[in-house]
Amino acid sequence: MTTRFSILLAVIFLTACNSSNKENAVLPKNSNDSAFTNVKDRAWWKEAVVYQIYPRSFKDSDGDGVGDLKGIISKLDYLKSLGIDAIWLNPIYTSPNDDNGYDISDYRSIMKEFGTMEDFDALLKGMHERGIKLVMDLVVNHSSDEHEWFKQSRSSRTNPYRNYYHWWPAEKGKPTYRWSFFDVKSEAWRYDTLTNAYYLHYFSKKQPDLNWENPKVRQEVYDIMKFWLNKGIDGFRMDAFQFASKDTSWPVLPKGYEKNVIKYYGDGPHLHDYLQEMNREVYSKYNVMSVAEGAGSSPEDAMKFVDPDRKELNIAYHFESVDIGKTLNDYGLVNYKKIFSRYDSVFKDKGWLAIFMANHDQPRMVSKFGNDDSANREASSKLLSTFVLTMRGTPFYFNGDELGMSNIRFNNIEDYNDVATRNQYENLKNTSGDLKSFLEDKKQTSRDNGRTPFQWNTEINAGFTLGKPWLKINPNYTTVNVAVQEKDSNSVLTYFKKIVALRKNSPALIYGSYKLYDEKNPNVFAYTRTFNTEKYLILLNFSNTKTDFILPDELKSFTRLVLTNYTTVTAINFTGNSIQLQPWQSVILK
Ligand code: GLC
Repeated sequence: MTTRFSILLAVIFLTACNSSNKENAVLPKNSNDSAFTNVKDRAWWKEAVVYQIYPRSFKDSDGDGVGDLKGIISKLDYLKSLGIDAIWLNPIYTSPNDDNGYDISDYRSIMKEFGTMEDFDALLKGMHERGIKLVMDLVVNHSSDEHEWFKQSRSSRTNPYRNYYHWWPAEKGKPTYRWSFFDVKSEAWRYDTLTNAYYLHYFSKKQPDLNWENPKVRQEVYDIMKFWLNKGIDGFRMDAFQFASKDTSWPVLPKGYEKNVIKYYGDGPHLHDYLQEMNREVYSKYNVMSVAEGAGSSPEDAMKFVDPDRKELNIAYHFESVDIGKTLNDYGLVNYKKIFSRYDSVFKDKGWLAIFMANHDQPRMVSKFGNDDSANREASSKLLSTFVLTMRGTPFYFNGDELGMSNIRFNNIEDYNDVATRNQYENLKNTSGDLKSFLEDKKQTSRDNGRTPFQWNTEINAGFTLGKPWLKINPNYTTVNVAVQEKDSNSVLTYFKKIVALRKNSPALIYGSYKLYDEKNPNVFAYTRTFNTEKYLILLNFSNTKTDFILPDELKSFTRLVLTNYTTVTAINFTGNSIQLQPWQSVILK
């Protein structure tokens, strides 16, 4: 070791020890707008930390076991305390709930279980008073079969609403096979006796696909969007919109295409024409966030949705980084790093991405990407929060992950509510499939793992409801809950607030360029974020074992510990040319 480097290490070590005595070593700056003066193309939706609320599971105010808007209102101060800037709310519109609100029967009213339009107005006001923006879900690839449009459409072949949906007259024989995500038989065409015709449903049979070729449908949707935007909401997350445009000549698709379904469904012939029209008619008139849920099957596809020159949407929320199979451990960190680096290289100069590890369609973040056993749950949850909040792109953070909530792992099919899980089970039952291994698999993968009620405190039903919760509550609520963690300066929750504060005040963590180091390292994800003279080095040990990260020369100038998820004085240990990272340790250096 050279003398210069030994001195440097000593300095780092001392800084680390000192800082870790000061509450986890975070050094939040005050909101410092002048630091952002040189940023090109600033936008609120790039700087926002988005927190996703699954309303059914967040907080029940009236004892019916289902979360509701008044429940969210009662927790606005909690939301404010997180430091987040915007909330994406899953659908709250009137719905028969075949797919928990993703089957809408009236786009301009509030689901009864969730409350009233007055409650909605109060929620929006309460959020805006606290400086929190509201992004709503827009579900217009399909409606509910109980929507008035579909009722009309189904009633006769000559009804003016017939062309609001895709129909195939049965006298022409069976339509070409289309695979469905949620159908018990995986068939997207469903025969309807009333008019002797098939209708298309990519999702459940109660979610018929709207016919975007019909300009009237498009105008209806633009009017709905304006209705909500004129109420003052701050944007939309466009549900499954990549599937909206279909080749209505219904060509035969190659056998097994469903294994690569986004390639075949995700880039229909007029998709981008519709998005450009939507932009002209709606988005261009408001300063709002517009998020493409699903954005094709490559970074280049994703760019098409959000290239500012094309005037479509502004944030691409692609799936490659969650479609990695059951666990990150199986997939491999090296492959995972490649995904982010590939996307970042395409997006480094223009366009904008969402960064997320979980949502209501995924198992819990810590159970998939971290380790939720008792020894590692806290550290790995904090590490994952560090990752989501220090990557380039707008963080979309799922409610409950700030507590380190983990998979519930139901034993019985009766415990599940999710239409996807239940219908897949039904299918296997009908085809004598292996139900036991299916249930085993769902303990890791089912969407219901991410949907169990939010854990507020140690009281009955985790403080979520006084009634019978619609989905079972994870028994770990006695220790994993807000009340306990708010009092603990080392909790997952406290750490989350620190990392949010750090990101918000740092142009480098929001806009800075991303550079990956040691790409072949199977345990450590190491990268820098740089904006002008502000530079951070982020080291994340994605493993259950201690590991030494060898510092290349160009990283030896990072001498100040900004934040780590370990708290003792050995929080960060520099030996020779390397830094020893504890299991699941995250370190941010300046
Ligand atoms: C989206 C939603 C998911 C829903 C599906 C159909 O992927 O996130 O929850 O089931 O679309 O609307």
